[in-house]
Amino acid sequence: MPTLAPALRAQLAATGGRCVSLFYGSGALEQAAFAGAAVLAADANPDLVALHSQLARDPSRFWRALLFLGSCTRRKRDGEGAYRRVAAAAVSSPLERAARFLWLSSLSWNGMWRVNSLGTFNVPPDRARLARPWPFPCLRVFERAAEAVRGTTFVPDWRDALAAASPGDLVLADPPYAGGFVEYTAARFTDADQEELATALRSAAARSVLVAAFNSPRAARWYEPPWQRWPITRSGRVNARADRRGNVSEFVATLGWRPTDIFEAQLTIEAAHLGQPAAEPETRSSPCPLVASRS
Ligand SMILES: C[S@@+](CC[C@H](N)C(=O)[O-])C[C@H]1O[C@@H](n2cnc3c(N)ncnc32)[C@H](O)[C@@H]1O
Repeated sequence: MPTLAPALRAQLAATGGRCVSLFYGSGALEQAAFAGAAVLAADANPDLVALHSQLARDPSRFWRALLFLGSCTRRKRDGEGAYRRVAAAAVSSPLERAARFLWLSSLSWNGMWRVNSLGTFNVPPDRARLARPWPFPCLRVFERAAEAVRGTTFVPDWRDALAAASPGDLVLADPPYAGGFVEYTAARFTDADQEELATALRSAAARSVLVAAFNSPRAARWYEPPWQRWPITRSGRVNARADRRGNVSEFVATLGWRPTDIFEAQLTIEAAHLGQPAAEPETRSSPCPLVASRS
């Protein structure tokens, strides 16, 4: 299965720049490619940023906060009541915020985090998860995550991170997808935001920043040439309807660099496995369905 991480690492090794991630989320791709390295990251979800930051600071301290939350919620006696109480609870410190985020997203339906237009978490609990003796990751997982995210500096908005990108830096843009899930934060990501992002990325490329932008096919109109677009397919595990949990089509569009060598070779190998012609950027050929991991 092709992976993007080695291509990104090779690219930055050549320019000596750093990774600037505009929509960090779980940071799966960033951590696979640049674990422990200096990364500038933006994410508008303060709960998610609190989790990464508290893990980086001290995973054992975070672990103790999670144990404490687990013991005082009476989850084993009244799972759904405990879930409602934690979801409604006010937090008074970044550590509490981080523990609450991990606690809720470990017990929510499909592990999902979604907020309404007021910013209130509104995912129902998963009863099977609620009933498990310990539904959270173990300390070793937190320690590994801490190592991977240590070195990452967070800012709240993609514009702040992009403004700080220098020539030779690699900007990764993985926004809420056009026509897809946008309920990460109270401020929804609109078509106007998509257009503003694509325009700002082009300006960044004009000052020798390298750009890789991910999105759904519905965003293709904002990534016409000089962008080069590569179709990729990812397994889509989160959907309310089981029949829609198949592979999801996406693209990665690049500007200011061309992911030849490793990336293109891997796409070619994968295409051969599927009995298809070798992959070409979308700007030069019709889409070739490829199964690619984004990490
Ligand atoms: C598609 S997800 C990113 C997924 C991520 N690459 C991963 O693998 O988990 C989009 C992310 O953008 C964040 N986001 C939404 N609006 C934002 C904004 N204006 N600035 C920065 N991040 C934003 C959301 O909180 C969410 O974590």
